[in-house]
Amino acid sequence: MKSIILTGSTSGIGKAVARELLQSDCRVVGIARSENPFPDESNYFHVRKDLSLGSGLEDGFLEAIEKTKGSEEIYLVLNAGTIDPMKPIEQAGSTEIRMAVQLNLTSVLLFASVFIRELEDFQGRKKILSVSSGAAKKAYPGWTVYGATKAAVESLTRNIAVEQSGRKYPVEIVSLAPGVVDTPMQSHIRETSEAEFPLKARFVSLKEEGALKTPEEAAEGILRVLFSQEYPSGSVLDIRELG
Ligand SMILES: NC(=O)c1ccc[n+]([C@@H]2O[C@H](COP(=O)([O-])OP(=O)(O)OC[C@H]3O[C@@H](n4cnc5c(N)ncnc54)[C@H](OP(=O)(O)O)[C@@H]3O)[C@@H](O)[C@H]2O)c1
Repeated sequence: MKSIILTGSTSGIGKAVARELLQSDCRVVGIARSENPFPDESNYFHVRKDLSLGSGLEDGFLEAIEKTKGSEEIYLVLNAGTIDPMKPIEQAGSTEIRMAVQLNLTSVLLFASVFIRELEDFQGRKKILSVSSGAAKKAYPGWTVYGATKAAVESLTRNIAVEQSGRKYPVEIVSLAPGVVDTPMQSHIRETSEAEFPLKARFVSLKEEGALKTPEEAAEGILRVLFSQEYPSGSVLDIRELG
């Protein structure tokens, strides 16, 4: 059996990924703040954690790893994220900057670290996929914290891949930008003021033109990359550039 630990399983892209995995008889261990989104699914386990807080994350993650016992393949999808604080950097408060970096970057580093350490002797396939963003490479006014954390996620993907390359049972790692996807995060972008996010009109137009991907389409791309053998470890991918 395949087990997948998935952060941000309660909404948007992550919820669609979890639903698709459960339909394929995988075991899913979701991590998020909200309640269990799949209370009737026997293959779904839920760990409630606020990943923007510094404390208790390692224990929560160890609890998640414990649920994967007996699996032949173990995957980690690091999907939880926030686009806040969405405003010019000088207007962002220290607490909101710290919490965003903790969620989008520190929890990714910490979970990757514990996953690699705890599964060092596991001989089945083990792979990490982090959800990145086009904002890792392209500048958007108002998305300074978001873009910085996503660029760092792409960097850690390349670095962990070279660290793992000589190991006896290496962990594979890739990152994937999912395109512009119709989720609560996109609604939040469209509801923000132009003073805070001057490019808001572009995202309103994308929605009006029907140009957004559905969460199910994004989930399909994420799972294709997750289970594929095609992409070398360390690949930094964008769904829009995949065939
Ligand atoms: N939508 C897009 O167009 C787009 C584009 C590029 C990249 N992405 C990336 O895709 C990923 C998913 O985004 P989405 O659009 O699906 O967003 P979303 O609908 O807002 O979902 C975000 C998920 O992250 C979890 N989360 C948020 N804050 C958390 C916290 N403090 N602790 C634990 N979990 C937390 C949420 O769960 P709880 O609220 O239950 O905690 C939720 O399950 C993010 O990494 C985002 O940067 C999205």
